[in-house]
Amino acid sequence: MRVPNVHDPEFWQGEPDQELAELRRGCPVALLGDAGFWTIAGHDEIVRISKDPATFSSAKGVLIGDRKRTVTGTESILYVDPPRHVAMRRIVNRGFTVRRVAQLTPILEGIVADVLDAIDPEEPVDAVDAICAPVPILMIAHMLGVPAEDLPTFRTWSDAIAIAATDPTDPRAMVAIDFFVYFNARLDARADDPDPPDDLLTAITADAELTRAEQLGFCMSLLVAGNETTRHLISGGLVALAEHPDQRAQLAQDESLIPGAVEEMLRWITPIVAMARTATCPVTVGGTDVDAGSYLVMLYAAANRDEAVFGSDADKFDVTRSPNPHLAFGIGEHFCLGAQLARLEAKVVFTEVLRRWPHYRVLDGVKRGASTLLRETATLPILLQPRN
Ligand code: HEM
Repeated sequence: MRVPNVHDPEFWQGEPDQELAELRRGCPVALLGDAGFWTIAGHDEIVRISKDPATFSSAKGVLIGDRKRTVTGTESILYVDPPRHVAMRRIVNRGFTVRRVAQLTPILEGIVADVLDAIDPEEPVDAVDAICAPVPILMIAHMLGVPAEDLPTFRTWSDAIAIAATDPTDPRAMVAIDFFVYFNARLDARADDPDPPDDLLTAITADAELTRAEQLGFCMSLLVAGNETTRHLISGGLVALAEHPDQRAQLAQDESLIPGAVEEMLRWITPIVAMARTATCPVTVGGTDVDAGSYLVMLYAAANRDEAVFGSDADKFDVTRSPNPHLAFGIGEHFCLGAQLARLEAKVVFTEVLRRWPHYRVLDGVKRGASTLLRETATLPILLQPRN
């Protein structure tokens, strides 16, 4: 069967779900000859691969875009295998525990209120610029201890680095260098600070075992992983609720449904569409033999609509779906460090938007971005308070 061109950013910009469903049903483990990698479309197979890092390593790349460049294990926690991975994860984990994230709720509520207060709800706005991008960026900047005046540059870096994940070019690599120079100086200053604040930069610098390259890799993964993903969860969620007004009304009436709705948005949108692993030995995956060194691209976007797991209504958006074992945050060793934070951000945003503007209207001109990593809403024209 024909394997869709998942390495083509434009494939994701269109309507990929039908083709992904055919692939999952017809050939859950398939070789994409042109691209030189395997696609894994079934939920079970992805769970198995993700939970066995000895057989399926992250060290040679985790992105579709990594096929175009040389990966070094020091650049981010994403590329590190156990046992080193366990030690690295412990360092930043304390910034992201359920308790720690819950403590951030008042700060986040303040950020969301400020962002929404700044909008004129009777005028059309681009919700990506006005809501979806600023909330996660302000939050992670707060957690990293970045001063407010540096925030515009922060967003420029974040955008350029996320695009580079799909299409690495020299100018984009230069942006990454600017980012590293900036954080190198901040890490130096923090390391010399006799009374450092209790934030993530302090946690990163406090660990004597991390090399400076690893510290910078951490800053980079927190910036990109934490920003773009949550932005697209919120933008995609706004679209999904506008397309399902009955479910939106249900949420506006009963806010206790919002956390479950966020899980369904995660499944439905799957902001990170795929991540990869490399087989360390010959192995059988879903009944298919693959050689050592094979690059296996796990299509979360396909797995999150797998009928074998989500039933015959897997392709329906249902804010009351339960259970909802989606793979939007991955699973196993590298399960998303920021999952609780992303969930909280989405919960606070949707609670507040639905309290203020339960009848918001998505206008013409919604544009998707082209990326092999992120399911992006690039532009989202919206009227928050339509006059009837
Ligand atoms: C909707 C929002 C988000 C989605 C969909 C998402 C998705 C993911 C996925 C799929 C992985 C697994 C990668 C793999 O298995 O190779 C991951 C890992 C990670 N995420 Fe997220 N993420 C989100 C938000 C965040 C936030 C807010 C942060 C931090 C501020 C964050 C930080 C990380 C980090 C550091 C890792 C690497 C963990 C490791 O390798 O052990 N993410 N994320």
